[in-house]
Amino acid sequence: MKDIKHISVAIDGPSGVGKSTIAKLLSQELGFVYIDTGAMFRTLAVHVLDKNTRLSDCEQVERAIEDADIAVRYIGGTQHMLLNGEDVTDRLRTERVSAAASVISQYPKVRQTLLHLQRSIAEKEDVIMDGRDIGTVVLPDADVKIFLTAAPEIRAQRRFDQLKAAGKLEGALLEDILRDQQERDHRDSNREAAPLRAAEDAVLIDTSFLSADEVKTLICSEIRGIG
Ligand code: DC
Repeated sequence: MKDIKHISVAIDGPSGVGKSTIAKLLSQELGFVYIDTGAMFRTLAVHVLDKNTRLSDCEQVERAIEDADIAVRYIGGTQHMLLNGEDVTDRLRTERVSAAASVISQYPKVRQTLLHLQRSIAEKEDVIMDGRDIGTVVLPDADVKIFLTAAPEIRAQRRFDQLKAAGKLEGALLEDILRDQQERDHRDSNREAAPLRAAEDAVLIDTSFLSADEVKTLICSEIRGIG
């Protein structure tokens, strides 16, 4: 029997640019599965934090993840992350986990562990996958590649509003969020392994002054354009 080729849409960009909001809207509109790869790095971050691993020590982190079994479940259409069988989804969106995920995602074995999981889902389903290296490394043959950008201050304000709405601000000020975001962006863009960057064939969209619906419409027309 001939293999069925599934459609894949890669959405990359820095933190707070609106990737997950837009990917969720697209997945609802098109019926594709939304895969949030940042949540996978965050899940490994929870694992190494729970083990009190020294984050700056690559070897220690790589050893610490050897017994981490990461799985993705969809419950009511929402992605849940399982860590050794336990649902850790509610623990992923703190600033501590954000910073740890950015640090450990520099390490080659961390990336390698998740690459397999990411590709195996995209082989079985039509997917919208978001992250930092989807168009460049994870799915270099994606049917549509989008790279989202927005001014740093606007991204920080979005993250601030999100954390506030979720009751997870933990006393942080907007300046703190902006500073942490700049540190993460710098690390994510300058690491050796699969840095954040736009694929040569990606469509660049600046979301600074666009609503999520406007961005969704732009991307939908790119997807429909593939025929
Ligand atoms: O998208 P996010 O903020 O949930 O991602 C958390 C961290 O994970 C981010 O700082 C960098 C890392 N990441 C990555 O290196 N590659 C991806 N494809 C997705 C996330």
